[in-house]
Amino acid sequence: MMLFKELNRGKCKTYLISCEISKTAALIDPLKEHTDRYTAILAYFGLKLDLIIDTHTHADHRSGTFELKELLGGRVVMHRRAPAPRVDVHVDQGDCLDLGDLKLQVLYTPGHTPDSISLSAGDRVFTGDTLMIGGTGRADFAGGDAGAEYDSIVKKLFALPDKTIVFPAHDYRGHICSTIGAEKSSNPRLVGRSRADYIHIMNNLGLPLPDKIQEVLEPNQSALDDDAIKFPALSQLNQVQQLEPSEVARRLNSPLPPILVDVREGDEFIGELGHIAGSRLIPLRELSQRASDLDQFKSTEVVTICRAGVRSTTAAAILTALGFEHVFNMKGGMLDWNDAGLPVEKMN
Ligand SMILES: [Fe+2]
Repeated sequence: MMLFKELNRGKCKTYLISCEISKTAALIDPLKEHTDRYTAILAYFGLKLDLIIDTHTHADHRSGTFELKELLGGRVVMHRRAPAPRVDVHVDQGDCLDLGDLKLQVLYTPGHTPDSISLSAGDRVFTGDTLMIGGTGRADFAGGDAGAEYDSIVKKLFALPDKTIVFPAHDYRGHICSTIGAEKSSNPRLVGRSRADYIHIMNNLGLPLPDKIQEVLEPNQSALDDDAIKFPALSQLNQVQQLEPSEVARRLNSPLPPILVDVREGDEFIGELGHIAGSRLIPLRELSQRASDLDQFKSTEVVTICRAGVRSTTAAAILTALGFEHVFNMKGGMLDWNDAGLPVEKMN
């Protein structure tokens, strides 16, 4: 028994799925501008919001996940590679989310972004911006990878039964749904294309960046509003020098080790990923006000750190603009540091 609706009736899709026995609901890819509408719909059907899921970090609209959680409760769900703080449930390939009697199976489908997931529930699959109807998600910014996207679609989504109904996060031509079988046989980006063909097509689409991409992307990546922090411009972010975790570890063992500034929230600092010994915790939203604490290090090497290396790129650009001369970002953040097997501390 399942209640299912698309709630936006526009190019951006938000899906409501709920278990009619437990009266618990999930919202997939809610928009910040429509949180009032979602709240009213949930109340009308007498549903309790349990799962608030973003299929990836969106670049074209502000996510409503954190606002909905504040208003209604529920758990924010994203892939473990998602850069934002305050995600309650980090998921990965093969995980299963319970929604009353319903089960949502997580497929890790990177490519459009490094944190893209699809969700398979009974006879349908929510494909985010990985597989769209007669199209696929662009892979040319925000960590996109066309080869990874091809593998996600061909090896994971096309392994689902042909009759599986496909519900994407976007459609620009008025379609509502498709099937895996229909996309296999007629999606023009994929039919008869090798992986190399696909990469060539996707890397030469020549599309302009989405309108207001930075105004949308940075708040979604940091779960901060732009009245809480002044975000750097794209040109400033692009100039940030990146260091692999192994290189950070090497420099920490040198005679003049860098200063480490960890810009996550306090609970992340002592959470599952831990932190690097000796790092200073200054959450991103406090960085501009507290940068004077670091004044003595203006001529020292400073390495900024966060979960996935995204918020800390913002932090590195902010410190550089404040006159710090040798700022680096640790690429891939504490996720890549942990994946490299480098040592962490988990206590304050
Ligand atoms: Fe997207």
